[in-house]
Order: sequence, then structure tokens, then C-alpha cells
Amino acid sequence: MIKNSAMQPRLDGKLALLYTLLVLQVLIVMIYVATTPPSELTVSTTHTSVTFVKFEKPKEPKIRQTIRKKFPIYQTINEEVVLNEIKTFTLFEVYNHTVCWKRGVDDQKMKSSEDLQKCICIHGWHGSDCGQPEVVWRAIMASKQNINLKYRKIARRIIHTFFLHEHNSAIAEVIVEELYNVVDFFVICDFSNAEDNFHHKLLKGLLQQKQKKILYINIATKMHKPSRIVSKYIWDKLKTVVRNLRDDDIYITTEPEQILNSRALMFLKVYNGWPQPIGFRLRWSVYGFFWQHPLKTTITVGACTVGLMREAYQSNSIMLEQLEGDLSERDSLGLVIGDLNHYGGWYCYLCQAPANIITSLHDKVKSKEIQIEKTIDVPFIEDLIGSGLWLDGKTNLLRVSKSRDLYFAPETILNNTWKYDWLVENFYAKLDYY
Ligand SMILES: *[C@@H]1O[C@H](CO)[C@@H](O)[C@H](O)[C@H]1NC(C)=O
Ligand SMILES: *[C@@H]1O[C@H](CO)[C@@H](O)[C@H](O)[C@H]1NC(C)=O
Repeated sequence: MIKNSAMQPRLDGKLALLYTLLVLQVLIVMIYVATTPPSELTVSTTHTSVTFVKFEKPKEPKIRQTIRKKFPIYQTINEEVVLNEIKTFTLFEVYNHTVCWKRGVDDQKMKSSEDLQKCICIHGWHGSDCGQPEVVWRAIMASKQNINLKYRKIARRIIHTFFLHEHNSAIAEVIVEELYNVVDFFVICDFSNAEDNFHHKLLKGLLQQKQKKILYINIATKMHKPSRIVSKYIWDKLKTVVRNLRDDDIYITTEPEQILNSRALMFLKVYNGWPQPIGFRLRWSVYGFFWQHPLKTTITVGACTVGLMREAYQSNSIMLEQLEGDLSERDSLGLVIGDLNHYGGWYCYLCQAPANIITSLHDKVKSKEIQIEKTIDVPFIEDLIGSGLWLDGKTNLLRVSKSRDLYFAPETILNNTWKYDWLVENFYAKLDYY
């Protein structure tokens, strides 16, 4: 009896140890599962419903897989993609036969109006159907061309290619968030081969819900090739992936750290009659949205139709150089969207942490994009950010007010200031500025 009762606690101790080990094992498995990219989930996600544009009823995507079965959610160059057709009628409101752009029309005034022959626009929208956002309306006025616009029954699709260096992933994320509802397909071209590059972040779940619209291409090996070769490479890849590109779809290319105005893109998507290629005049922010370059804006050559791209590549014409931004002459552009008060988007130059800015600057010096005589270190960069100085350490940047400036930053950032606080607040500001 005594023997038995002495055995009991010993057995209990062993059991407890076994259970502890079991629990530990389960925990380890759980941690492993939680931190590993979900590959089986991946495959099924590609098959479930995809809303290509928020304003339309969800449609089944027609994404077919070739070759590989196991691949991440984001598109790879081994896949094929079919872009959806988007009808525009859901974007318009009809008042007794008069068709008005929903976002731009004053619905209340219309409902109490006697005369339903014309649309009454809310502030910031123009045109007979209220379909032109301020920035586009001004661009059309300034161009002094006779532009005859007509809305489309089927929207154009937008393919947005943009570039990315090692430390631009935050802005890249903002681009996708900001433009997700207007862009049909993002082509993200990454120059970085670093272990924690954008590819790695996507695998870890960055932009998970939005990866179905993303094609990731790593172009690290093409870093020092002429831009013309790189663009052609990307163009060819895109053509093999997207099966149903149409000549009137829109192809947009931007440099790293450039975020386009979503309203302007929506306009290009829904209307016929604009002259191309389209340039965008971007607000030129530096280090964060709180500083602006003294030149205030920069023009980027951004959008044209797929048809024009195709022609340009076939004929290898001078147009290509224009499209690739070698000539940023206003004259060579059909329309420039954005002016000194209303912007076609944002260029957030060197919007990175000070240590990363140094890496970026070294790259820029190496590729002869800029020249810097001074030796630069983290305190020097922090000082520039803090006191609002350009890279020369002399030229003053312009202070931008978050509360008073309509175009302070893209909406995604204004909606998530806690997440992007370092782009909104100047953490290195000197005390005597307050
Ligand atoms: C609506 O349209 C009809 C003709 O199509 C017209 O007779 C009527 O006056 C219009 N109503 C308003 C409120 O404008
Ligand atoms: C920002 O927030 C507003 C209000 O909640 C919302 O209507 C808008 O769609 C949001 N914008 C973005 C880009 O998420």
C-alpha cells in the first residue's frame, strides 16, 4: 500500500512532464504555422471571388494557373491573368434621363431641383455631368485644346507599373492601398535583392487581401541596364501574363516614391477623348509630407493607352523616349494633370528613415543621379530633416501645414496617421520651431 501511494506522485510527475512536452510541441507547431506563408491557403484564394473594382458587383476572376500548382497569392510571371470588364453605369446617377457622375453630383440639390436637364455639381467637381475632378478640369482648361469628352459604357482597365528600391516599401504599400479601387493590375518592379525585400514582405502577408491584383517582378539584375531595356522587359512580361489587354486600356509607369491622384486616374478610366500621353505634375515632398521642395512640383510622364505603347515598341519611335521620360517637355505631352495648387499626385522624395536615406543616396551617387561632396552620416541627415534643408545643406525647404493643406498627403496616409506617423510628423524638428 505504502509502495503504491509513493508510486502515484512519481507517475503523476511523469505524466505532467509528458503533458507539458505535448503542450510545448503543439505551441511550436502553432507558431510555425502562424509564421510560415500559408501556401495551401494561397492556391484556394486565387480561385475565390475577386472584386476587381470596389464599385462593381464581385465577379469570379478568371485566373488560370499554368505550370506550377504551389505559388504565393501574388501573381508571378508564370501565371496568366484575365482582366475583368467593368461597366460604368453603377458610377452614374440618372435623374429623369440626365446622367450625372455620382461622386461629383449634388444629390440633394438634384432631388429638389425643378430643372433636371443639367447636373448640379458639388464643390471640387466640374463638367456637364460633374465627372471632372478639379485637377483634371484645370488641366483641360490650361491645355487650351478643344477636348470633347464622352463617358464610356465599359471602363478602360488600368495597368500601373511602378519601381521600387530597397527602402521604398512603405510608399509602395501606400500606392497599392491608395489606388486599389481604380487600378486593375499593379506591376511591381523591385530593384532590391535584399533578404527582406518587397517579395519577402508579400510572402509574409503584406497587402494580403490585395495581392490578387499584383504582379511582382524582381529586376535586381537589370539595375544598371538602360531604362529602355528594362521597360521593354517589363512590357514583354506583362503581355505574356495578361491575356486580354486591349488597345484602349491604360498603361501607367511611375518612378519609386510617386503616388498618383486616384481621382485623375478614375477620370482617365471612364472617359474618352483626352489627348495623350498624359503627364502628371506631382507635389514634391521631401523626407516626409511635412517638407516641400522649393520648386514645389515635378512632372512625370505617366500614362498612355496600351495601343500607343504597342505602336511605340513596334516602330521603336521617338515616342518611346518621351514615354520613358527622357523628354519631360510639356509640349510633347497631350495633357498635364496637376498645377501649382492642385496636384496630379505626390513625389515623396527620400521618404525613409535617416539610415536608409544614406543607403539610397549612395545608390543615387553611384548611378550618377545626384552628386554629393560632403560626407554624409545619420546626424547630418537628421539635421537636414529637422531644420528642413535640401541635400546641399543650404537650400531651405518649404513647410507644409497638415491641417490647412488640402493636398497634404494621399488619403491612405491621412486615414492612417498612426501607421505612417513618420511621414506626417517631423520627429527631428528642432524645438525652437514651436
Ligand atoms: C422629366 O422628363 C420629361 C420628359 O422626358 C419632362 O416632361 C418632365 O418635365 C421632366 N421632369 C423634370 C422634373 O424635369
Ligand atoms: C479614408 O476614409 C474615408 C472616411 O472613412 C473613406 O471614405 C475613404 O474611402 C478612405 N480612403 C482610403 C484611401 O482608404
